[in-house]
Amino acid sequence: MEKFDVCKLVRKNCLAFEPYVAGKPIETLKRELGLKHIIKIASNENPLGPSKKAIKAMKDVIKKVYFYPDFNSTDLKVTIANKFKLTPKNILVGAGSDELIEIIGKLFFTSSDEIVISKHAFIRYKMAVQLMASKSVVVSMKDGLTHDLNAMLKACNKNTKAVFIANPNNPTGTYNTAKEIENFLQKLPKNKYGMKPLVIIDEAYYEYASFKKDYPQTLKYLSKNPNLIILRTFSKIYALAGARIGYGFASQQVADYIERIRPPFNLNVFAQVAGVASLKDNNQVKRSFTHIRKEMKFVCDGLKKLKIDYIDSVGNFVLFSVAPLNGSDIFKKLLAEGVIVRAMGEYDLNNYVRVTIGTRAENQLFLNKLKKVLGK
Ligand SMILES: Cc1ncc(COP(=O)(O)O)c(C=O)c1O
Repeated sequence: MEKFDVCKLVRKNCLAFEPYVAGKPIETLKRELGLKHIIKIASNENPLGPSKKAIKAMKDVIKKVYFYPDFNSTDLKVTIANKFKLTPKNILVGAGSDELIEIIGKLFFTSSDEIVISKHAFIRYKMAVQLMASKSVVVSMKDGLTHDLNAMLKACNKNTKAVFIANPNNPTGTYNTAKEIENFLQKLPKNKYGMKPLVIIDEAYYEYASFKKDYPQTLKYLSKNPNLIILRTFSKIYALAGARIGYGFASQQVADYIERIRPPFNLNVFAQVAGVASLKDNNQVKRSFTHIRKEMKFVCDGLKKLKIDYIDSVGNFVLFSVAPLNGSDIFKKLLAEGVIVRAMGEYDLNNYVRVTIGTRAENQLFLNKLKKVLGK
């Protein structure tokens, strides 16, 4: 056979890419570990499940599956635009907000651009930057693991093309206030293009966080800040992670270009109808929010009893410290007990573990097993 070396063909900046490590499916783990009962509280999913209306809509559309989906996701965009009092031309849609993060990278980032990112921010920003051979400028967080927006401002220079802000952030669960975000948007310095850099505010956990009075309502900043892109998702409170539906808001100029490079059929037929139906079911959102706040308290009280430090979270997950132990050791021990959580090594938080708030039974089991593996 002729010699073939794929590494000579792969773009240099992609050679160091590691595959994204997602949690193993529960069925695979059951087989591997010989366990009957496994709970997965690792990926910030919503254990109460989606709107019944969304499930019905998906069932109803199955007969039409031989058709391509609407390439423009028109109904979904119109429904989102109406709900948030914008026009469909301001709306972005992606196969998860994850796809939108990548599309933004592909559209804007070049090898001479710098992208400012907070140190323990959601990891997919760094990956989008690496994909495009741009430079990540990583800024330390404040004490308490909140984005240090003043330090991020200082990190911006002529080469800064964009800044990512996850609000609230995953995995820390912390948030930046409206005042902080407003100050940040206002003080951003101009770059070599003579403009303020793009600011991508990722609000994947928006519905969980907005009970905080000082949490920003960023949509109202859009008209004065055409450099602002706001990302949301149906994967979290709407409990449709498996359907892959992300959305966002941007000025028409920005949205127009994102539309041009977006794959035409990126939202499948199930995703489109599920999104529309979900937005019309406020009760599902209310129920999920109430559940998470109540169960967040239950889990945090349990951690306190075990004398475990945790970071206050406005999301549906909580980051806790197992120092001086290693988070990945605790992850493995919990796994052997049938509890899947998430170690935080890839976030440079080696002594931390992140757990998603589950049902009461799942949360109780998690606390019992944590107590056991820590020998407390
Ligand atoms: C902060 C943040 N942004 C974006 C995403 C991606 O979500 P999705 O692609 O499912 O919309 C996640 C998923 O965990 C997240 O935590």
